[in-house]
Amino acid sequence: MNKFLKSALFSCLLLSLFLSSSAQTCKSFTSFTNNVIYNSCNDLPVLNSFLYWNYDQSNGTVNLAYRHTSVTASNWVSWAINPTGQGMLGSQALVAFQNSSGVVHAYTSQVTQYQTNLPEGSLSFGVTGLSAELVNGDMIIFATLQIPSSMGTTVNQVWQVGPVSGGAPGTHPTSGDNVKSMGTVDFLSGQTTTSGGSGSRIRKRNVHGVLNAVSWGTLMPLGVIIARYLKVFKSADPAWFYLHVACQCSAYVVGVAGWATGIKLGSDSPGTQYDTHRNIGITLFCLGTLQVFALLLRPKKDHKYRLYWSIYHQTIGYTVIILSIVNIYKGFDILGGQKNWKKAYTGILIFLGFNAAMLEAFTWYIVIKRKRDSSEKYPPTMNGANGVNGYGNRTNQVV
Ligand SMILES: *[C@@H]1O[C@H](CO)[C@@H](O)[C@H](O)[C@H]1NC(C)=O
Ligand SMILES: *[C@@H]1O[C@H](CO)[C@@H](O)[C@H](O)[C@H]1NC(C)=O
Repeated sequence: MNKFLKSALFSCLLLSLFLSSSAQTCKSFTSFTNNVIYNSCNDLPVLNSFLYWNYDQSNGTVNLAYRHTSVTASNWVSWAINPTGQGMLGSQALVAFQNSSGVVHAYTSQVTQYQTNLPEGSLSFGVTGLSAELVNGDMIIFATLQIPSSMGTTVNQVWQVGPVSGGAPGTHPTSGDNVKSMGTVDFLSGQTTTSGGSGSRIRKRNVHGVLNAVSWGTLMPLGVIIARYLKVFKSADPAWFYLHVACQCSAYVVGVAGWATGIKLGSDSPGTQYDTHRNIGITLFCLGTLQVFALLLRPKKDHKYRLYWSIYHQTIGYTVIILSIVNIYKGFDILGGQKNWKKAYTGILIFLGFNAAMLEAFTWYIVIKRKRDSSEKYPPTMNGANGVNGYGNRTNQVV
């Protein structure tokens, strides 16, 4: 049992390590259609945006790709350097959208006023190799910029998404993430800062993901494994019960925290694209809470309703596990490109599944062996007194 707990703790630790080490999501996307390998990349904190580049310090050129995910054919996207200040006014922008010919049109535009439909115009620095593509909801703008040495290696950047209207970029939303999409980028060191508003959304999403993957996704299935397989060992009774309760209760507490961060994230991003994830999350919270209350209503071992309670408890329990796993994978999809997270969590699931399968086989072996041993020792009629787990009825049943 000690060994079992150790491997459980180890897997939790492993999961947290994997999750925290893969916070950079831009790194998992490398297959650009222009076959360029970008040595630096950064996750921009809002608006599903990523910047990739190669910087040549000797002549001040930046070969870059700006990638904006979850874009539709009726969106425009833009990434800009602002040499004169922070924010929108004065930005030297690269713009792309799918125009009425169904072609992705990429061009440059200087932003001189707030009410603008981003007319074409040349920038204050040189731009070559400008192109853009829209593939599977990823809009990617490619360009090489000639950064004047007077600008240094750290520049103000602004990025944006908005609707196309009348064949030109229309006004973008003026609240939420659309007014937080600015900061600086150091082309030399790869460092970015955000100046546009509170905390990083990516960090919040990562916290949400870690809390939920550890609680709903790992601790809860572990608690089920404990309940199902440890009770077969005489020496683990009633320890298995306390372990099960401890595991599920801590999973519930951490899980509610993770759930709350999700609800907060959801309220910060209007729109319906995460509705399924949110609805499954809310269902999980209700079912999880029901399980906690069901514990308080648990009939005594020999009570006539105990069987019904067990069926109910296990049905809800297994439903929660399945829904949790489904929703965690939905979460990975929302994070987009977080292949390492997905792999790490899949590894944990395989580990848990493998252990469960081994324990299942071992349990059957023990139960059958006990049945045989006891039928040798006692007349067959006494077998009926044995508990479901193959050994005597427990009189010291807890609760
Ligand atoms: C800058 O240097 C790189 C590598 O040395 C070269 O490929 C690129 O063409 C140069 N760009 C300009 C504008 O001189
Ligand atoms: C659409 O964009 C392409 C590529 O930039 C351009 O050649 C074409 O003229 C544009 N069509 C319209 C209707 O603007």
